[in-house]
Amino acid sequence: MKKLLGLVRDFWHAGGTGGLNWHVHAYSARRQWLATMSEIERFLQHVEPNAKELVLIGASAGWMMPPSWLARFERIDAYDIDPLAAPLFSWRHGQALRAQGIALQVHRQDALASLPELLQRHPHACLWFDNLLGQHRYRVRDEVQAEQEIMALKQQLQGRSWGSVHDLYSGPTQDMAWAHRITPLTRAGVDAGQLNSQQAQALLQDVGAKDVWSDHLTSQVFASGTPTTLIPWPFKDHHCHWLQAGWVQDFKL
Ligand SMILES: C[S@@+](CC[C@H](N)C(=O)[O-])C[C@H]1O[C@@H](n2cnc3c(N)ncnc32)[C@H](O)[C@@H]1O
Repeated sequence: MKKLLGLVRDFWHAGGTGGLNWHVHAYSARRQWLATMSEIERFLQHVEPNAKELVLIGASAGWMMPPSWLARFERIDAYDIDPLAAPLFSWRHGQALRAQGIALQVHRQDALASLPELLQRHPHACLWFDNLLGQHRYRVRDEVQAEQEIMALKQQLQGRSWGSVHDLYSGPTQDMAWAHRITPLTRAGVDAGQLNSQQAQALLQDVGAKDVWSDHLTSQVFASGTPTTLIPWPFKDHHCHWLQAGWVQDFKL
């Protein structure tokens, strides 16, 4: 019975950050998310990955994944803990990748817990953390542990090229007027180390934030000096996420 309940829970919300719940929302909100997706694509267009292999972590179904980014690799290994991610990612992206001769392998695995093993398994790949680090605190349910693990990633990734898009802050907004101004609100070239509380206030003001907002404990994913792009995401009605995207070439501390 316990096993069955675990299976149902996994299927429904996959540790709280994916599952059917997420897929139904992502599918129905896909039009509302278009401008945010274009900004992510624009960010990735400026990245020069120096590898032909990509390890994609938190791939889900690739609802927000620009095909133009995937097309830059010869082999992609997509990882997610969600049991629905592999079939849905293959359904959404598999055919186009096959047509371009790009090899795709989808894996169900906790890629954060097994990162050292993954790095050994894919010694020549670059890595893209696809909007999962901001949810780590909700999976781990221990803020100190979550923040430490997020901060430690850069040590683990020394010598590799990698990037991430993740939630910085999220919360309710007074209205949705800001959602029509995603491009003008997006900020490029923000030094990850310079993100202070004054700037955070400006971000919240831009989207008419109200009530209590969540800090996703991701402000130190990147080392100081890393240029990042901040993108608003109209996640659902009257609810905004500020995403941070960044890329690090051959990272050295
Ligand atoms: C917000 S969704 C990502 C959306 C996805 N990038 C897209 O474009 O559809 C976060 C995903 O990360 C996955 N995830 C969370 N923690 C993970 C972990 N430790 N290892 C692998 N996947 C994880 C969740 O199952 C979920 O599918």
